[in-house]
Amino acid sequence: MRQNTGFILWLTGMSGAGKSTLSRALQAKLDGVRPVELLDGDEVRTWLSRGLGFSREDREENVRRIGNVALLLARHGVGVIVAAISPYRGSRDEVRRMAAAKGVPFLEVFIQASLDALIARDVKGLYKKALAGEIPHFTGVSDPYEAPESPEAVVRSDAEPVDAGLERVLEMLRKRELLP
Ligand code: PPS
Repeated sequence: MRQNTGFILWLTGMSGAGKSTLSRALQAKLDGVRPVELLDGDEVRTWLSRGLGFSREDREENVRRIGNVALLLARHGVGVIVAAISPYRGSRDEVRRMAAAKGVPFLEVFIQASLDALIARDVKGLYKKALAGEIPHFTGVSDPYEAPESPEAVVRSDAEPVDAGLERVLEMLRKRELLP
């Protein structure tokens, strides 16, 4: 196993798609097995990205900051899990390029769910508000989400149980010898 190899496991997907749920489950699986850290967009916005909003410029800046911190950690052997909407392909690819330049594996995981499913689920009640026009620039409703073109893994959170997606991602890490 490449015990000392850090990596960036980047979970992208719309609000409510299940990024946080899967990332926490992954963190729990990796904890005690190898160094691991979780950077969740929602939480990062309370410190590293405090003050940033949801314009394209701010989202790109958010992703850039998360990417840079992830890279710093990964270069020191940490398996970094990122959970952020990161709606723009260009910004995710920018992080991928930065990681490649430093020899850090970057694995993009698309947490996919149909808008209908997200609206039906609406755990935080945000879609209801966004559809009523109360939240401007809401991803998938009044703001774009650019799906990955060739992610390393896809998790269909509207069509498979969490455990199935979890196992597929773990298997991907094992195949790359990033996990025993
Ligand atoms: S981004 O696009 O990567 O910068 O977003 P991220 O840092 O992951 O933050 C997403 C969470 O912010 C809440 N929220 C919004 N999401 C999308 N669009 C708008 N306009 C918006 N306003 C607030 C929302 O709770 C997201 O959390 P998750 O965990 O994705 O549901």
